[in-house]
Amino acid sequence: MTRAHSQPPASRAGLCPSEHFPGVTSTTYLNAAGIGLTPLPVAQSTADYVMDLAVRGTVAYFETVEKLGERSKLEGSKLFGCDPQNIALTDSTAEAICQFAWWVAPKRGQNVVVIDIDHPSPIYPWLRIAADTGAEIRYVRVEQEPQSLTPERLAALTDRNTVAISVSHVLWTSGYRFDLRALADLAHSVGAYLVVDATQSAGVIPLDVVAMNVDFLAASAFKWMLSHSGVALCYIRPQIAERMRPLLVGNNSTGRTLSSRPAGYDTSRIVYPDGVARLQYASSCHVARHTLGGALEYLNRIGIGNIERHVLKLCKQLGEGLSRLGAEVLTPEPDQARAGIVTARFPNWTGEDLSERLAQHQVVTLPRLNGVRFAPHLYNDSEDIARALEVVEALASGSAS
Ligand SMILES: Cc1ncc(COP(=O)(O)O)c(C=O)c1O
Repeated sequence: MTRAHSQPPASRAGLCPSEHFPGVTSTTYLNAAGIGLTPLPVAQSTADYVMDLAVRGTVAYFETVEKLGERSKLEGSKLFGCDPQNIALTDSTAEAICQFAWWVAPKRGQNVVVIDIDHPSPIYPWLRIAADTGAEIRYVRVEQEPQSLTPERLAALTDRNTVAISVSHVLWTSGYRFDLRALADLAHSVGAYLVVDATQSAGVIPLDVVAMNVDFLAASAFKWMLSHSGVALCYIRPQIAERMRPLLVGNNSTGRTLSSRPAGYDTSRIVYPDGVARLQYASSCHVARHTLGGALEYLNRIGIGNIERHVLKLCKQLGEGLSRLGAEVLTPEPDQARAGIVTARFPNWTGEDLSERLAQHQVVTLPRLNGVRFAPHLYNDSEDIARALEVVEALASGSAS
């Protein structure tokens, strides 16, 4: 194996200063679909905030807690294409979907359409309710042949008894990207909700929840949004949010935190705030929110459209290179059907083995669908892709140790 295999390139052409992401000069980091790297200035600012909390306690907390939520919603609204007041901050995507699903509460005789290779977050909440009510969870089954997924497969399972189509915008496994407007039309044609987990698209693909006409969309912050776990953004169509009775309630359910109501609470009743804010119910991880606001400002300054173009170019280079090396690429080829993920299987390798061998050569990926999932972001450049392909080739040919 040549020196190039163990030495990531010194000069870089990502969309941002390389000193903001030391992880991509010390390794070939292609795992934004697992955990995105936080820009160093944002991480430093959060570290300072943690220290401030440690030293000044409630004084620092009361000064910042409301502003942190507002900044994340404002920046999140640019990502989602909606008003900031139509976004709630929840602790996770699964929590947000649970809140919505328990409100919809499908009954026996009704069904929810999901995909077998999707993430548990848009599936388990419905499964849990179905265990109590006898509702049917209908699976589009593509595990044996992930490339066979099409919107028509969902349409074939959707009928008058469907109450929700619940899917990821971009699948964490194969990287398939749905046309959300078409799925919304499908769901609405039978009076169902379109519920979207955008964890693998928010931060890398421009979203426009209004034009896409989705009913519900939530995304966790720790991947393409370059933040931490413990916070997610959740949009619900305002006309629906107004009617929602939240499953989870707590000291924030009235829409005001203790910092703004020193006299305490009216514990005899709960008066919900307008709209989706009623999903925010208790003390949450404001440290994660600090990072989220900063990271979203960082991403929005660069522009999600620019990030999408950059990442799609890298994915094209990856897909073509992997095919040339004899891999079976499970991710669709057209730009509009993929985002930042390229998953590929290799003859004679399990996904786990190859991902582990890549890691030994400082190429960071994860195994998915018995292949390897590559996920470049704005901090990667074409040299990273060339290096990853070079290591794959050397491993496949047996010339790498
Ligand atoms: C599509 C998708 N949704 C959700 C999650 C996790 O989100 P949460 O734990 O916030 O529900 C992940 C990854 O962990 C994911 O890939």
